[in-house]
Parts: sequence; C-alpha cells; structure tokens
Amino acid sequence: MSKSLFIKTYGCQMNVYDSARMADVLAPLGYVASDTPLGADLVILNTCHIREKASEKVFSELGRLREIKEATPGMLIAVAGCTAQAEGAEIIRRMPFVDVVVGPQAYHRLPELIARASRAGGAALDTDFPVDSKFDHLPEMATPPGPMAFLTIQEGCDKFCTFCVVPYTRGAEFSRPVAEIEREARRLIAAGARELTLLGQNVNAFHGRDEQGHEIGLGTLIRRLARIDGLARIRYMTSHPRDVDDDLIAAHGAVPKLMPYLHLPIQSGADRILDAMNRGHTTAHFLATVERMRRARPDLALSSDFIVGFPGESEAEFEATLALVREIRFASAFSFKYSARPGTPAALMEGQIPESVKDERLQRLQTLLREQTDAFNHASLGRIVPVLFERPGRHPGQFIGRSPWLQAVHAHAPQASIGEIHDIRLTHMKPNSLMGELVDTAACAGAAA
Ligand code: 5AD
Ligand code: SF4
Repeated sequence: MSKSLFIKTYGCQMNVYDSARMADVLAPLGYVASDTPLGADLVILNTCHIREKASEKVFSELGRLREIKEATPGMLIAVAGCTAQAEGAEIIRRMPFVDVVVGPQAYHRLPELIARASRAGGAALDTDFPVDSKFDHLPEMATPPGPMAFLTIQEGCDKFCTFCVVPYTRGAEFSRPVAEIEREARRLIAAGARELTLLGQNVNAFHGRDEQGHEIGLGTLIRRLARIDGLARIRYMTSHPRDVDDDLIAAHGAVPKLMPYLHLPIQSGADRILDAMNRGHTTAHFLATVERMRRARPDLALSSDFIVGFPGESEAEFEATLALVREIRFASAFSFKYSARPGTPAALMEGQIPESVKDERLQRLQTLLREQTDAFNHASLGRIVPVLFERPGRHPGQFIGRSPWLQAVHAHAPQASIGEIHDIRLTHMKPNSLMGELVDTAACAGAAA
C-alpha cells in the first residue's frame, strides 16, 4: 500500500540532493512524494544549521506540524540534516512528538529508524558518522531529476573556519570514488538531466580514487564527465579559494561543457579578518586566483559569499570588503550578517558587533552587490545566449531556463520542450531574471551550450 511522504528542505543544494536521496531510500517501503504535510504518513524536515535564523525556523515549523500530527493518526515526523546532527537531543527534549532524528551521514538507515519509532513509540535517534558510507546504500533513483540535477561528489570539511558549523555537522572531508560518480552521472542523464552541478562543501578539495586507485582532482573529474554523451553542461559548488589548482583553472579554458560561472566565497576583503576566520588565504591570493581564472576563461562570471560583522570587524575592514567587491565585479553574490554559532571559536571571540551595525553594513554591501548584478545583466541585453529550459513559465508557451552564466531567463517558445537548449535573444531585464525571445527554430537537444 502506498504511503505519503512530505519532505521540506531548508538550506543549501546539498540538502536538496539529500532530500531526493531520502525519497529514494523510502520508495521501496511504498512512500510516494506528496506536496503537502496534510494527511502525510511521514513528514521529514531536512534542516539547516548554518545561521541561527535557519535553525530557529525548524523549531517554529515543528510547532506547526505538531497540530497537524495531532489531527492525523499514524503520522510520523522526522528531523534530518544539520540541525538534527547538532541538536538532536535538544529536539527530542523540546519536541517530544518528533519520532525520528537522523543526521546527514546516517539517512540510509531511515527505514530501520522509522520501523523502530513505529514499534517503540519513542523517538529513534541516529546522529553517528558511520564508517560505512551512506553512498554505498543508496537505491535506484525514485523520481526523475529534471534537466538541472545535483550530484554530490564530496562531502564534509576539514577547514574549520572559525564561524562555521559545517565541520561539526557534516563531518570530515570525504570524496566519492570516480566510478561511482560516473555511474550516478550516467543514471541522472539517462533519466533526463542535461546539466550536472557537482556538489561538495569543499567541492574543489575533491580527491576521489579512479579505477586504478589513483587520486584525481576536480579538474580531471570534470574532463572525464564531459565525455558523457547527452550531458550538455557542468557546474560545481561550493569551492574554496585555497583549493583552486592549476588543473581546475586549465579545465575552465579547455572544457566547453564547463559553464563560465564560478562561485568562490571570500567572506571578507580584509586580511586581518580572513586570518581571524581561519580562511588560510589572503585577499591578494584571491585576486590572483580570479585573474588566472579570467585569463583561462575570459567570459567567466563570478559569484561569492560574504559575512559582515564578524567579531572585531572595524569600519575600515568592512570598507576593505566594499573595495574588493568594486575591484572584482561580481555577477551575483550572497551576503550574510555574522551569526554566532554554538561550539564555534568565533562565537567566543571578543568584539562581537552590535546587530544595528551588522544591519547597516549588510545593507551597504547588498546595495553595491545589487548594482553589480544589475550591471552584469544589463550588459547581456541584446545578446543571443543558449538557454537550458528547466520548467514551464506562468504563461502558455513560456519557459524558464538558465543561461551559461546562471541567469534566469524567461522566453516564449511554444514549440520547445523542457530539457532543450535554445538560442535566446535577451531583450528585457526584471529584478531577478531576464526576458528573451527565441531566435532558433530547430530544437538543439543534443548540443552543448
Ligand atoms: N554566520 C553568517 N554566515 C555564515 N556562513 C557560514 N557560517 C556563517 C555564520 N556563522 C555563510 C558563509 C558561507 C555560506 C554558506 O554561509 O558565507 O560561505
Ligand atoms: Fe565552513 Fe569554512 Fe568549511 Fe566552508 S570551508 S564549510 S565556510 S568551515
């Protein structure tokens, strides 16, 4: 008998990938995805712990779910992801109606945990970092991936930036074997994916073993994956400036399927702050890396992450961040107010910055970044770009897709289908997307962008 499963995903792309894998693990038990928690047999919250706000959301969502559960006999609630890992015991204490708590490295054990919770009536908790990898236990894909798919190739982090919970929630760095990644890539493409985004908390620290037992890096992996027929586009995220090597830079120049877009977090434009963050590189190193990347791929669009109001950040140091942004020019970026996370060294540092100062700095930085995104998008107006159609738009015959530079593009193309790549002339700019018109007539489903 089929059972209904509602998964709500918070946070990063890795969680999106993990949610799909949890659905795969549960499909053999008869669980079918539903888009509402109402009447669901199992609700999973796949949580994020990166900033305080993200993990607070979990507790308020659980409060809402409690009422639904009371009205739904037999409903089970599971909390997965990074907040589950970090605060599993606290979740069970504060929210005793939660049935399962499972960390990001243990979700292959969900069937067993669900059975345990149903039998015993108490909460089943598994926040181990098991020696057996969850990747060895994943069954076939239960739901087709869509044209733009994620593929986790590396997980965990050994860098221990002083503000970050990831090394504690996701565990030590681990790279999947190359043959396993290639198998999964082929499966995703056979199921309809045209673009793969290779995921990892430190994706360019990838050092997976090939069939001969030799370790290969991300650049070599990209070259190997690019040989797969039917795969049109490759991206990767999130990379660390310290792990950008010559081979990866060369791959940007040599592999047409590798899209000209790079998300490379810097966090701050002041060397003293980078040091206090334990980032392990300077602004000069970052600038030199960007320059080498741009030399290899002149049309490369850059994106980054920034934190404002890290403990001790002076006005001058914040202004150094603004200066760096002006110097580099980003196509897009994410910026956050520093959030003190329990258990991280920065939470105990002196010089915590008042919220009002963080607010003001964030606003100034975001205004500048917004101008740069608008300028980048404005510069593409009038150009013809290949767009991979990902989903239907709001109007009949309209599609929404992505340019090579990850810009969202809306285009009217009644004769097209999802998963095709079409040449689109960009005509107008909206706040978060571009409008365009179809210039080709024949579908070029097999062509690389
Ligand atoms: N406070 C604010 N932002 C954070 N990030 C990670 N930890 C914190 C924190 N404690 C941001 C970083 C990282 C992105 C994923 O989230 O910019 O690159
Ligand atoms: Fe967190 Fe730093 Fe690791 Fe990125 S590199 S996941 S910011 S500790």
